[in-house]
Amino acid sequence: MKYEELMAKAIKVSRNSYSPYSKFAVGACVLTTSGNVYTGCNFENSSFGMTICAERNAIGSAIAAGDKKIKAVAIYSPNQDNCAPCGACRQVMHEFCDKDEDVDIILKNGDELRICTLAELLPESFNL
Ligand code: THU
Repeated sequence: MKYEELMAKAIKVSRNSYSPYSKFAVGACVLTTSGNVYTGCNFENSSFGMTICAERNAIGSAIAAGDKKIKAVAIYSPNQDNCAPCGACRQVMHEFCDKDEDVDIILKNGDELRICTLAELLPESFNL
């Protein structure tokens, strides 16, 4: 699937964000190496630490479908240009890919897409 289409899905799912506390909506769309796509939005809780990021919500759907190798992730927030994944989500992406260099992270920079790799965003990732 084209990266513009991944971003369109991230934009669409961001509208389902449940973010009454931060009022910061996020949508994510994951493309796996098998060619399937999964979307997720952030959802918050009055117990703030229970909040789940959009990226991890989407990745959870991929895992539940048995699809464990991420190829690309599009991320969108109507609140912020270039909304990049938090550190926790970067580490979770690392867990579910072959090589960080091969995972494209797609951000929205105005009318343009900005594409970087997970390796660029997560140097020296943790491994057991
Ligand atoms: N958030 C995400 O969904 N993804 C990120 O990578 C960063 C933060 C959400 C969590 C919370 O609901 C809101 O954005 C503000 O932190």
